[in-house]
Amino acid sequence: MSEMSKSMQEIVKQARLDPQNDTLIGAMVHATEDGESLRDDELLGLCKLLWLAGNETTTNLISNGAVFLLDNTHILEQLRSDKSLIPDFVEEMLRYNGPVMGLFRTATVDVEIQGKQIRAGDAVWLLFSSGNLDSDVYDEADKFDLHRRNKDHLAMGKGIHFCIGSSLAKLEAKVAFEWLVDVLPHIELKFERGKRIPVPVLSGWVKLPMTIDGKGFVA
Ligand code: HEM
Repeated sequence: MSEMSKSMQEIVKQARLDPQNDTLIGAMVHATEDGESLRDDELLGLCKLLWLAGNETTTNLISNGAVFLLDNTHILEQLRSDKSLIPDFVEEMLRYNGPVMGLFRTATVDVEIQGKQIRAGDAVWLLFSSGNLDSDVYDEADKFDLHRRNKDHLAMGKGIHFCIGSSLAKLEAKVAFEWLVDVLPHIELKFERGKRIPVPVLSGWVKLPMTIDGKGFVA
């Protein structure tokens, strides 16, 4: 974290010096509202959020999807023969095994949900992944359906805090799977030596050793 902060501070400093900087950080550095711009600590916080929220999540979407395809080779074969199905695969993967299982919130008003009282000020854990498998919303909710018509899910949140990187993440995953579907048949996973992310907020792998054409390495 401290190394990351140092290098981001430097990037922010350079962006301040260059009014023509057309990167995302440049846009944040030079943005103003009522004549005020963001302070360095605010910029650093935003940079860290973007870096963390944008990396771990997309990595887990791609690795969860790859593991799923190796377990469900009939779907892998469908994608290999028709790569235009990959965006549908990414969308259904987000619903079926999204990388963010849930996030914490504080209730702002008293509310009753299915007989359970939640009071203003209570901490709640919004389980996006559970809502994504709600059988009142989806037909055969616990089944992976490549051709599912209802593509509305909670994997990237809902409302004012909806994921700012949603389109980028889906594009990254599409590019990755267009390549991966041809590589996966050469891969064998070594689950017994794998380790899942040990936090209940995220779904993914810390490490998952594999062999490619019989040659081993860890990813
Ligand atoms: C598969 C990949 C991703 C998943 C599953 C994901 C999921 C989420 C979720 C569940 C939220 C919270 C929504 C809420 O609080 O209601 C969120 C917010 C956010 N995401 Fe993503 N995300 C992904 C990729 C990205 C990428 C690539 C970036 C940036 C490059 C990003 C940046 C953010 C930021 C900055 C927020 C906070 C938005 C706000 O509070 O207004 N995410 N994301």
